[in-house]
Amino acid sequence: MTTNSNELTFLQQQAKIRHRIEEAITQQFAAEDEGLQYALTAARQAGLPQIQISPIQGKLLQLLATACNAHKILEIGSLGGYSGIWLARALPSNGRLITLEINPIHANLVRTAFAKAGVSDRAEVRVGKALDLLPHLESEAPFDLVFIDADKSPYPQYLEWALRLTRPGSIIVADNCVRRGIAVDQPEDEGVVGVVEYNKRIASNARLLSLLLAMDDDYTDGFAISVVKP
Ligand code: SAH
Ligand code: DHB
Ligand code: MG
Repeated sequence: MTTNSNELTFLQQQAKIRHRIEEAITQQFAAEDEGLQYALTAARQAGLPQIQISPIQGKLLQLLATACNAHKILEIGSLGGYSGIWLARALPSNGRLITLEINPIHANLVRTAFAKAGVSDRAEVRVGKALDLLPHLESEAPFDLVFIDADKSPYPQYLEWALRLTRPGSIIVADNCVRRGIAVDQPEDEGVVGVVEYNKRIASNARLLSLLLAMDDDYTDGFAISVVKP
């Protein structure tokens, strides 16, 4: 397929419009304060990959946490604490966020970022491989919201744990379930088999009401959102 210059101009204009829309929504509904900006800067300066969620995704997580009256939230994959700050801020003062992180360097940055953002009283990072830490969380369940955003191949196992650690009415969110379209377009691609299986399971599980929402990175990636049915 070839693209002539008229079409190219049109596509570039459309991309610009999408960009402006995202900027305007971010400014009006998902502006970052100093705490969130600190987390981003510290992670960048420490050389962490810049793969945190977008501000709009952060606000959506807050909206979902508030909708299910979340008092306990579990996050799998903390990075520099950016998404954790959004989540922790949706909690009441007696609420609890537990975030799991395999990399101790990341975990240290998260602790500092949580302190700077004023959420250390309710947010805690636990260091280790998520699949090793998850069995120890059974005594602290049920969680009202689970956010999955760690390594992608064990996503189906993370879903199993999320189902075990939640209650009817809880919400389960997983990032990167579209993956530049590869997860929907080339499901046999080695890099996305875990995510493809995750999508398949949430789409067909009778206990879940689910939607895969392409809303990030110019509609090429996004959240899979599931509600555990009453
Ligand atoms: N949720 C973060 C981004 C997470 S990036 C945000 O939006 O701000 C993915 C993180 O998962 C990385 O920090 C990586 O070190 C961590 N990770 C990868 N494999 C893991 C595993 N098996 N267990 C726990 N954490 C893991
Ligand atoms: C990657 C991981 C993420 O969680 C993400 O949101 C984007 C990219 C990655 O490993 O490349
Ligand atoms: Mg992600």
